[in-house]
Amino acid sequence: MTRSFQVTFTRSGKTLAVDETEGVLGAGLKAGLALAYDCRKGRCKTCMVKVDGIIDQSEAWLISNEELADGYALICVGKPRSNLRVHA
Ligand code: FES
Repeated sequence: MTRSFQVTFTRSGKTLAVDETEGVLGAGLKAGLALAYDCRKGRCKTCMVKVDGIIDQSEAWLISNEELADGYALICVGKPRSNLRVHA
């Protein structure tokens, strides 16, 4: 069974239920949020924002260890592993 998590986007204040198999960016766009993106493949950083919580970044090719340590994530390929606060 697929788990889902509560993902809050701070700029709009919207909270969505996002499946653990779903990208955070795609879920936000589907809900009508205006979010920056380009490649949607983890390779350009256009979608990089701070995220509070645990987000899978195994497909985030371009993000550095320093950026990950500072709490940034590429949300196009980021899948929730806990409830999240996304600073976008
Ligand atoms: S849109 Fe390019 S890395 Fe996310």
